[in-house]
Amino acid sequence: MSVGRSPQVPEFGGPTAAPAIKALRGRPTTGLSRRTLLRRSLGLGVALAAAEGLLGMVSFVWPKTTRASARVRVGSLGDLIARNGSLPIVDGFPAYVADAHAFVMTIDPAKGGWLAGADPTGDGRTLNVRALSQRCPHLGCRPNPCVEDFWFRCPCHQSRYDRLGTKADGVLYGPAPHGMDRFPIEVDGAGVLTVDTSRVVLGPLPVVLGQPGLIPPRVPNGCVG
Ligand code: FES
Repeated sequence: MSVGRSPQVPEFGGPTAAPAIKALRGRPTTGLSRRTLLRRSLGLGVALAAAEGLLGMVSFVWPKTTRASARVRVGSLGDLIARNGSLPIVDGFPAYVADAHAFVMTIDPAKGGWLAGADPTGDGRTLNVRALSQRCPHLGCRPNPCVEDFWFRCPCHQSRYDRLGTKADGVLYGPAPHGMDRFPIEVDGAGVLTVDTSRVVLGPLPVVLGQPGLIPPRVPNGCVG
């Protein structure tokens, strides 16, 4: 009985005879051939492109989905006062609400509280409360409310707003083109405020200091230095 033998394969570095080369070519390939590697690389490239396209679609749809559910329950005026320690929230000073990326303030403290209802315009006068976006309309920094003069001051380029977010007109009061943007709001029967952060309503045009529509600062040059 004859036993089949593989053609002799030379040791590394030795002479390679034609039959041996032929045998080597005929052997099944182990590992990846160049063609397979190219094919797989091409497949990987197509898969990556498809994934990128899918991610683009998801990122296009995702913000809408997120914004659609971005209703933030802030709580009642009493909750805000309790959460802000010694700040004069009861006097209409803006309270920062991190979850909503917003400042919330009572519009007319003399009325004593907020009123139930909904205000999709963000003006808030019918509910006696307003929610302002924390993004400065200039380049997006977060203005800080000053407890001395009850005005906002943006730390980036010094735009200044009264406590309800109206921009003071003139270059002395910074470069922002308009007042702070507003969020639609709702107050339920128990006085609980919900802020809809899915969209903003543009703030009003600047108002000259001394004109109706801009609350003067309580003291000159508050929180400076
Ligand atoms: S970002 Fe607020 S003034 Fe420029």
